[in-house]
Amino acid sequence: MARFTGRRALVTGAASGIGRATARLLAHEGAVVVGLDVDEAGLVETAAGLDGAVVPLVCDLLDRTRVPAAVDEAADLLGGLDVVCNVAGIGGFRNDDEQTLDDWDRILGVNLTGTWLVCQAALPHLRRDGGAIVTTASTAGTDGTPYHSAYSASKGGVIALTRSLAVTHHREGIRVNCVAPGPIDTPITAQYTLPPGADPALVATILPFGAPGLPGEVAAAIAFLASDDASHVNGVVLKVDGGKTA
Ligand code: NAI
Repeated sequence: MARFTGRRALVTGAASGIGRATARLLAHEGAVVVGLDVDEAGLVETAAGLDGAVVPLVCDLLDRTRVPAAVDEAADLLGGLDVVCNVAGIGGFRNDDEQTLDDWDRILGVNLTGTWLVCQAALPHLRRDGGAIVTTASTAGTDGTPYHSAYSASKGGVIALTRSLAVTHHREGIRVNCVAPGPIDTPITAQYTLPPGADPALVATILPFGAPGLPGEVAAAIAFLASDDASHVNGVVLKVDGGKTA
């Protein structure tokens, strides 16, 4: 059964990794999807071979005036919104002494403020017929992760934001849930380098529990939370980490 037949979905971060896997999975299950990302070439690659089921929409989540306009544009293109998946994110390991304020603002700006702006702009559209929002945190937002202050703070914020939205909007027929992946094999992790002088004992705690997860394994969890299969699931943080933090 196609769980998303007739559903209209917005997926951020759709040009790569987990966001790409999510956009493609929702499209395969019947949704029409707007994929939002700053990376136009990546979006085109995501949309390839799907017969227009994924429509690219270029938007930088750091552009605070563009984001609400882009969400409205997505709703106009699709004729409404039923599902919003916030997947875009950035990160990186830093020594706290070397963490610059600009970099801190950029990480919080994309991961937390970007998620909030998308949700805020999506709410009026979702209210019309009810709908589902899924956010993407990280086990860095639930469990202590070394050299990850800005990223952890942003993801802890995403979790708190998710819970607040979930209780505020449930009577409007809107469910809001969160996935918290552990290490997943995507370009984001390939770009990560350890900070100078990193303590090997702390570094060991960052490593995946066995093999890293695959983008499709997180996309499957996002799709579950976005679907009617999760009709009585609201405000949860679903870890997708292979048991690393169990
Ligand atoms: P990725 O790097 O493959 O994809 C991230 C996407 O976000 C990219 O397409 C990128 O262009 C987009 N993006 C970045 N900045 C943006 C901006 N300013 N405006 C619009 N789009 C922007 O990374 P991945 O792994 O797929 O990450 C997806 C989410 O999963 C992120 O929120 C990340 O924090 C989270 N996550 C990833 C983990 C991993 O190990 N890969 C672990 C835990 C959480």
